[in-house]
Amino acid sequence: MYKTFFCVLASSALAFTFREDYKHYEEANGWIKLHKVPANWQDARLRCRAEGASLASPSNSNIRNVMISVMIAESVDPGLGIYSGIHSTFANGSYSTIEGVPISDLPVSWATGQPDHVYTENCVIFHMNGTVEDVQCSDAFEFICYKKFEALTMNKCNTVDNEYKWDVRTSHCYKFHRLGLTWSRAHMVCTAEGGYLAVINSDTEAEVLKDVFAKYPKNQIFSTYQDSAVIGFREWPEERSWYTVHGQTLEDAGYDKWPTGQPDNAYLGGETQSCGAIWRTALLDDVWCNQQFAFICEKDPQYSPNIY
Ligand SMILES: *[C@@H]1O[C@H](CO)[C@@H](O)[C@H](O)[C@H]1NC(C)=O
Ligand SMILES: *[C@@H]1O[C@H](CO)[C@@H](O)[C@H](O)[C@H]1NC(C)=O
Repeated sequence: MYKTFFCVLASSALAFTFREDYKHYEEANGWIKLHKVPANWQDARLRCRAEGASLASPSNSNIRNVMISVMIAESVDPGLGIYSGIHSTFANGSYSTIEGVPISDLPVSWATGQPDHVYTENCVIFHMNGTVEDVQCSDAFEFICYKKFEALTMNKCNTVDNEYKWDVRTSHCYKFHRLGLTWSRAHMVCTAEGGYLAVINSDTEAEVLKDVFAKYPKNQIFSTYQDSAVIGFREWPEERSWYTVHGQTLEDAGYDKWPTGQPDNAYLGGETQSCGAIWRTALLDDVWCNQQFAFICEKDPQYSPNIY
């Protein structure tokens, strides 16, 4: 099945690739990745989204069968199962997939005695015997992301995500996220996209980020803070020094320009500013890790997404 796919590929001009960490399954008409690191349901959903896919549901019998064979091949614990995209977080008792297909239209049945907690268990796991069970969305399970097959083209940034823009000055790619997230969520999103929170390695790269930021005026930024964007550095707890997500000090990374008075580790409601951001001038700023900011991801085109 997999071989046939590559034969087709070889004789075609378009490259039907998605990501290196996903495998194509002809029977499922798409690409699949099983995440062996368990996550809560919201994180599983978000991670699949950031990878350009969606949290898989047994939407038809072909996809269901492929999900089961992947679960067996990857040694998922039969007693645990995996998260599916089926949930009732919009309304207790109304179970449907993320795509809005009601559970009654899916080739699955409830495990004996399920659902057993309609008012407190709004997420649904899928067992390899084809049954489903309601669980608390905060519980962690392994999960499968699914991307329906379509003709995709790798861009210069070595991703199918065209929001990554190549910059001639650094030969790296950048993507600006307008919707504010906490530093930690932003880090997760950039990583899942196959990049990392932007690291400034030179004055030139600071200029690049300044230009990227300038494309998004205040009214296009969905955050309380519209003049700061989170990037890839932060303070380790119990140590008053700042490191990039690549483990270097700012000085070693090649850029450590703070405005006068910063970093000030401002304190509010038990929280000290210890996450890294830039202002529109590209000067560095320390911000609260629990607040949501727009953020900038960076991607090296040499590197293709292959998480874990
Ligand atoms: C399917 O597997 C689940 C998890 O191991 C179990 O709870 C359930 O009873 C099984 N259902 C059937 C019909 O075998
Ligand atoms: C589900 O029911 C619980 C308990 O009654 C309630 O707290 C919760 O808000 C409800 N959730 C939805 C999505 O309606």
